[in-house]
Amino acid sequence: MRPTPAPTPAIPPSPIGVFDSGIGGLSILRALRAQLPNESFVYLADSGHAPYGERGDAHVIARARALTHWLRDRGIGLLVVACNTATAAAIHLLRAEHPELAIVGVEPALKPALALTRTRRIGVMATRGTLASSKFAALRRSLEDRAEFVCQPCDGLADAIEHCAGSGEDSGVSTKLIALCEEYTGAMGRFGTESGQIDTLVLGCTHYPFAETQLRALVGSQVALVDPGDAVARQAGRLLLGLRGDGDSAAPLPQRPGRVTLCATGEPGLLRAAAAQWLALRPNVEMLHV
Ligand code: DGL
Repeated sequence: MRPTPAPTPAIPPSPIGVFDSGIGGLSILRALRAQLPNESFVYLADSGHAPYGERGDAHVIARARALTHWLRDRGIGLLVVACNTATAAAIHLLRAEHPELAIVGVEPALKPALALTRTRRIGVMATRGTLASSKFAALRRSLEDRAEFVCQPCDGLADAIEHCAGSGEDSGVSTKLIALCEEYTGAMGRFGTESGQIDTLVLGCTHYPFAETQLRALVGSQVALVDPGDAVARQAGRLLLGLRGDGDSAAPLPQRPGRVTLCATGEPGLLRAAAAQWLALRPNVEMLHV
C-alpha cells in the first residue's frame, strides 16, 4: 500500500504591491479589487515626496527604486506601478533591477481612446513629467496618423485632488480644484461631438478619475472620459496566472476576500479619507520612512 503523501503546507499567496505618489493609485486599486477580489494588496502612497509630476526624472526614479525595494522586502510577487509619471520615468529600470518581480505599469490610454473617438480629436490630460517623457513621445508618434492628440500638462492638479480627499465640497481646496479643471480644459479647446471638437478625454494621471465629476461638468455628458484602471487590472490578472502556473504545480489560489494594507510616507489622514470615500475601505494607515 502506498503511503499517503503528507499534505503540502499552504503557502499564503504573496500580496500585490501597488504604489503611487499619493492617493491617485487608489483609482487603479479600485479596479484591481473589483477584478481580483481574493487577492491581498499592500498600497503605498508616497505622499511625503509628492507630487511627482513637476519634480523631474531623478527624483521620481529615486523614489520608485526606494518604494520597489520596500515592497519587495514586504514579500510581494507582483508590482503595479499605479502612476503614469513613475511608469514613464522608471519602469524600464525597475524591470531590469528586479527580475524576481512581475511588474505592470500605467500609461495614458491613447489606444483605447482611438477606438472611441469619432471626431479624431483626443484630449490628453497628464502631468508635465509624463508628457515630456520619451515613452509618451514614442506612444504618441506611433498613433499620430490616426488622430490628433491635444496634450495638456496639468501642473498642480494631482496635488489639488490629493488635498480634496476628506475636505468638504465648499472648502477652499475644492474651489482650487474646480479652477484648475476649468483652466486646463479651457486651454484644450472645444469639447463635443461636432467635427473639430474633442470628443474623447484621456485621464493620463491616476489622480484625475477622482476629479471626474468636476471634469464631466466642464466637458459635457457626451465626451468619453478614458481611464486605464480596468485594462491595468486585466493585465495584472494575466501576469498572476503566469506567476502561479497551472496544473499540479500551481500555487494555491486565495479562497477568501483579500486584505488591503495601506501605507504612506506622508500625512496618513489624506489616504485614510480617500480610501474611505472612494473604496469604502477603513483600515489603519501605516506611516513609513522609506
Ligand atoms: N498619480 C500620478 C500619475 O499618474 C502622479 C501625480 C503626481 O504626483 O504629480 O502620474
